[in-house]
Amino acid sequence: MWVVKTRGLVKFFGDVVALDGLDLRVPKGVCGFIGPNGAGKTTTIHILLGLLKADRGEAYVFGLDCWENSYEIRRRVGVLLENPGYPKGFTAERYLEFIAKMYEVNQPKSKVKGLLKDVDLLWARNRKIGEFSAGMLQRLGLAKALIGEPELVILDEPTANLDPIGRLELMEKIRELWRDRGINFFISSHILPELEEICTWASIINEGTIVDQGFVTELAKKYEPYVYELEVEGDRDVFIKRLSELNFVEEVLVEGNKIVCKVKDVNIFCKEIPQIVAEFALTLRKFQPSYGVLMGIYRRLIKNEKSN
Ligand SMILES: Nc1ncnc2c1ncn2[C@@H]1O[C@H](COP(=O)(O)OP(=O)(O)OP(=O)(O)O)[C@@H](O)[C@H]1O
Ligand SMILES: [Mg+2]
Repeated sequence: MWVVKTRGLVKFFGDVVALDGLDLRVPKGVCGFIGPNGAGKTTTIHILLGLLKADRGEAYVFGLDCWENSYEIRRRVGVLLENPGYPKGFTAERYLEFIAKMYEVNQPKSKVKGLLKDVDLLWARNRKIGEFSAGMLQRLGLAKALIGEPELVILDEPTANLDPIGRLELMEKIRELWRDRGINFFISSHILPELEEICTWASIINEGTIVDQGFVTELAKKYEPYVYELEVEGDRDVFIKRLSELNFVEEVLVEGNKIVCKVKDVNIFCKEIPQIVAEFALTLRKFQPSYGVLMGIYRRLIKNEKSN
């Protein structure tokens, strides 16, 4: 069963078509929701939580209709919204305890302490939320999203404002929560290398429709998103000619010192290149992917869309 499923969702804001027949599917696990600014991610998330009503189409979370059953969905789903509002006069601890009581959590005080520790905010538990920095607010939002023992956590750009260590820790935490407690995640983010670390599934949205979605490994096979950069020392020209003749290389571009290869079969490529370099008695100075798999898929899909 899909954790999230929508069919033909349409949402207008006045004349603006925010969602244009969105067919989203999200399986169990850690799943990414990616697309350019204004593509419709936040609008979709609001509809999934029953905060917004779609003009047309259907939306289900755990098989429950998002508008009809929004109360139950919000009880089972933890969420970090894009621009959440908090009571500024509350301390972090008091606010989270208040939320914990709302969710009727057992031993709310120790639960809140544990969560504050998890998001590295224990040190600020007695400070007023109004005095928090942007990253501290983000951490508070994450703790809040996890408070009610959710089965699914929806995060709308969770790492915006987090410092580099905070980002790494969050990714590690998400991985752990799925692995150890089976909590599903649906994460909208523009930081593709980060998502790539943890997501097994990606849904790609552009202009209010899903342009493709699937397991990242399957998408990678379909779009062959691998682009490698090479730098060699020695007689480059024969090497470049040889590269362009290889059947597992789609295209070879030369950009100054850099040789950029669009690769069809990454496994064979990585195995063969060092051998070919040795054959031509060259020195390999650089041999690395230009960008990650998700970025490769995204570039292909979103660029293609724009050029159509
Ligand atoms: N309350 C609103 N009133 C009017 N237009 C809106 C409203 N909310 C969203 N829109 C419009 O709907 C479209 C989708 O916006 P949405 O916020 O869902 O995009 P997004 O994918 O979350 O973008 P971002 O990556 O920038 O967060 C945009 O054209 C936006 O201007
Ligand atoms: Mg958004």
